[in-house]
Order: sequence, then structure tokens, then C-alpha cells
Amino acid sequence: MKTIHIETSSPYDVYIERGSLAKSGELISKVIDSKKTVIITDDTVNSLYTDTLVQSLEKSGISPSVFVFPHGEQSKNLNVLGGIYDFLCKKRITRSDFIIALGGGVVGDITGFAAASFLRGIKFVQIPTTLLAQVDSSVGGKTAIDIAGGKNLVGAFKQPALVICDSDILRTLPQSELSCGMAEVIKYGMIRDEKLFEVLEKHDISNVDEVMDDIVYTCIDIKREVVENDEFDKGERMMLNFGHTLGHAIEGWHNYTNYTHGMGVAVGMCMITERLCSPELAERLKKCVVSYGLPTSTEAPLSELLPFCSTDKKCESGSISYIICNKIGKAEIKKVTVAEFEKLMEG
Ligand code: NAD
Ligand code: GLY
Repeated sequence: MKTIHIETSSPYDVYIERGSLAKSGELISKVIDSKKTVIITDDTVNSLYTDTLVQSLEKSGISPSVFVFPHGEQSKNLNVLGGIYDFLCKKRITRSDFIIALGGGVVGDITGFAAASFLRGIKFVQIPTTLLAQVDSSVGGKTAIDIAGGKNLVGAFKQPALVICDSDILRTLPQSELSCGMAEVIKYGMIRDEKLFEVLEKHDISNVDEVMDDIVYTCIDIKREVVENDEFDKGERMMLNFGHTLGHAIEGWHNYTNYTHGMGVAVGMCMITERLCSPELAERLKKCVVSYGLPTSTEAPLSELLPFCSTDKKCESGSISYIICNKIGKAEIKKVTVAEFEKLMEG
């Protein structure tokens, strides 16, 4: 078992081991005293993994109830959140109890926000079941729900009490979801770790499972360093948004349907690198992106993407921050006016 300790305002450990879902009860008992919990999950993950988790918790004397909601981004909303609060009341969850997020980023984000807000804050454990959730959303304490005004507009910083990553769980992911997570993995290689990027170049979507544990460990360790330096997203943490400004714009252009976040990030990374970096670097990135089943370009015209960029959360009072990697493993944050950004992108 590999462990990464995250030294944030509320510190915690991340356990990474194949098969660790079945050891969750034991691992949780080491850090939380309560014997009562609610597992929050979506219908897809529920049918695959809740039984294993329940058995493991019961073996450690922890008694779980289960709240299940329909899978997908459309569930990350106030209605489902209200349903979670009602269920926690019904099960008489107190401040000394805890809740568990068993699922991808949607489950993790809404459960984390419920934990941040219910009774003004209770403990929660993240058991991420997608690659994106393991390498990104389960670590670092960003929690949120979507409202009519936009994605992730209501949320809180709330660090989990523990994160358990079992990469065996990723074997049941549809390939499109695996690719989506690989976009974030490629991002980590680009911004911080050339060796990780080289490992990615030696593999592809068909055989990356062989090195998945090491990849998850490396990515979380990069996120650890960034989050420890800038827990509340005031500076360095922005680096994690490489490819995301244009990526979100492309997702928005597609109305967030039939276009995954990972596809947007992949195209966003390629577009910015192609326009602002050397042709050799852009080619290397594109080759890697393609080998993980991701696109390198979009049919969306730049002129229609740019208005989405200026409404992005990373855009403040007429200026926009974007990330550029002139060398693999080295990222820089640049702040320019929206007009300058448009000029750069139009080349
Ligand atoms: P998701 O949670 O919707 O999961 C994707 C799909 O995979 C779902 O249909 C789910 O049921 C299914 N699934 C999950 N685990 C599975 C498994 N092991 N086997 C088979 N199917 C499985 O999506 P996601 O990509 O994990 O997360 C996206 C969300 O994460 C977005 O809402 C985004 O805003 C958020 N996010 C948050 C952060 C953060 O720092 N908090 C970072 C990045 C993304
Ligand atoms: N996913 C970006 C962050 O955690 O800051």
C-alpha cells in the first residue's frame, strides 16, 4: 500500500492500492471513531461496488446506510443535495458521524459539499471510482454543485478525512471515461513531470492499466504539492487548469452534451501548445493525446469559443489567466487582458 500525506489546513492520507476497496472498513477505522455512516453513490457505481464496501465496513463494526442517485452531471444539483440532507436527517447522522463518497467526481463533489454544509460540517471519506476522480477531484478539497447559472458555482473548500484509491475499480470504466481521466494525467505530465510523460508515451489506452497504480500515485503526489502550496486557489493551483480555459469553452459550445471534460481539456492543451509553443512540442503532445483516444482539435470556430472564455471562472475583471508549458514538465501562469488572449489565440 502506498500512502500520500496531504498537509492542508485539515491534513489527511491518501491510500493507493489495488483491492483496497475491500479493506475500507479497516482503513477508515484507523482515522474515524464513529460506527455510523451513510454511503452516497450513483446507480451505476452502486450496482458494481456498494456490496464490497458495505461488507468491509460491517466487518469493522461500522453500520452503513446507502443513498443512491441517478448517474451523470445532471444530478449534481440542489434537488439531489436536498435529498441527501433529508436522508442524513432520517438516519440521524450527527457531527461525530461521517459520510462516504463512493463514485466519480459527481458523487465526490456533491457529497463533499453535503459534508461541508450539513450540521455546519461533518467528516467525509472519498472513495473515487473514476480515473478523473482518483487523480484530481477526490484530492484537494474543492466541492461543489451546479446551479442554473453555471457549473460548480456553489461550493466550499472541504478536505476529506481520508481518500482510498483502488485502481482495480477502474477496470469497469467505459473507455470514454478512462480517456477522460487520461487527459488529466497527460496534463500532470505536461505541467510538472517529464518522466511521467515519457511513461505515457511508452503506453497507450490499451495497456495503461499495467502502470495505473504508479500513475495514480505520481499524479496525486503532484496535486499534493500544488495544493499544499496554494490550498485556496489564489495562485499556483491555477496551474492545474492547463488546457481548461479553452477546454471549458469547447464543452460549453457543445452544451456539455456528447462531449466529455477530458476531450475538452485534451483539445485545450493541444490548441494552446500549437499556437504558442514549438512545433516539436505540439507534435509530441498531440501524439500522446491521440494514443489515449482523445481529440486534438475541434470543429468549434475560435470566434465562437472566445466568448465562452471571457465568462470562465478564471477570468476576473477583464483579464484572463492561462497556462503554457514551453517545455514538458514546466508550466507558467500568464495573466493577460481578454483582448490580448484573443489576439494570441487567433495567431
Ligand atoms: P462522473 O462522476 O459522472 O462519472 C462518470 C461516469 O462513470 C458515471 O456515469 C458513473 O456512474 C460512471 N462510473 C464511475 N465509476 C465507475 C466505475 N468504476 N466503473 C464503471 N462506471 C463508473 O464523472 P467524473 O468524470 O468522475 O467527474 C466529473 C465531475 O468531477 C464534474 O462534475 C466536475 O466538475 C468534477 N470535478 C471536480 C474537481 C474537483 O477538484 N473537485 C476536479 C475535476 C472535476
Ligand atoms: N481540479 C483543479 C483543482 O483542484 O484545483
